[in-house]
Amino acid sequence: MLEGKILSVANQKGGVGKTTTALSLGAALAKRGRRVLVLDLDPHASASVHLKVYQEQVTHSIMDVFGDRETEPSEIWRKVRMTPHGQAFDFVPSHTHMTDLETDLKMRQDKGMILKHMLAEVRHEYDYVMIDCPPHMGVLLINALVAADLVIIPIQTDFLAVHGLKLLFETFRTLNRILDQPIAYRVLATMFDARAGACRRVLNLLRKKMETKIFETVINMDTKFREASAQGAIISDLYPNSRGAHQYNLLANELESLW
Ligand SMILES: Nc1ncnc2c1ncn2[C@@H]1O[C@H](COP(=O)(O)OP(=O)(O)OP(=O)(O)O)[C@@H](O)[C@H]1O
Ligand SMILES: [Mg+2]
Repeated sequence: MLEGKILSVANQKGGVGKTTTALSLGAALAKRGRRVLVLDLDPHASASVHLKVYQEQVTHSIMDVFGDRETEPSEIWRKVRMTPHGQAFDFVPSHTHMTDLETDLKMRQDKGMILKHMLAEVRHEYDYVMIDCPPHMGVLLINALVAADLVIIPIQTDFLAVHGLKLLFETFRTLNRILDQPIAYRVLATMFDARAGACRRVLNLLRKKMETKIFETVINMDTKFREASAQGAIISDLYPNSRGAHQYNLLANELESLW
C-alpha cells in the first residue's frame, strides 16, 4: 500500500507564512488531483478560521486525535475529517482546548508519537498530509516533527528570522538522537521583496548556508495573501492569476519532484 507523504509546516517564529503555506500548497496539490489531508495543529486555529471552519460549529477536532483513547482510530478519523466549503482537500480543524494537551499528556509515555501512530491509520488514503504547526515549542510541535517525512520551514527573508532558525535546529538535533532517521527538512523563503537589498542579501545568505536544503521556489511579498485570508479564502481561489498563487504552484511542482 502506498503511503502518503507527511509534510509538517513548522517554525517557532510567528507570522512567517506557515498557515498560508499549509493551505496554499495543500490547495495547489489538491487542484492537480492529489489526495490531500490538511491538519490544523495550532490551538489558535488560524487555518480553521481561514477556511471559515469555526469551533462552535464542529463537534470534533484534532483534539480527538490526541485525547480520545476509547474509540478505534479509524472511527476517530471518520469523525474528525471534513471537507471545507469549496475545497478539494480533507481537513481536520483545531480547537482552543488543544492548549490543555500540554498538561493532559504530561504523564503519557508515548506523548511525542501519538500523531505518527494515529496517521498510520489514514495516510494510505492520501498522497499528502499537510500539518499546520503552532508557533511555539511543545508537545504538539514535537508530534508534528516526529511524524513528518519532510518539515517545510517557511522563513521570512530578514536577518532576525534567520537567527530564529537556530532554535528549531537545536530541537532537530535533540530529536535526531532518539529517532531512527534524522528529520528531513527544506527551508522556504517567504515574503520576499526583490526591491529591498536586505531581502536579497538574506536570500543569498540562506542559499549559501542551506545548500540543497532550501527550495528553489521563493514566495514573494504579495498583498493578495492578506486580502484572501481576510475573506476566508485561499489565494488561488480568489486571485488565481496572482503571483502568490503562481509561486505556490511552482512550489507544488518542486515538491513533487523530490520523490
Ligand atoms: N508571501 C506573503 N506576502 C504577504 N503577506 C503574506 C505572505 N504570506 C503570508 N502573508 C500574510 O502574513 C500573515 C501571517 O501569515 P501566516 O498566518 O501564514 O503565518 P504563520 O507563520 O502561520 O503565523 P502564526 O505563527 O501566527 O501561526 C497573514 O496575514 C498572511 O496573509
Ligand atoms: Mg499559523
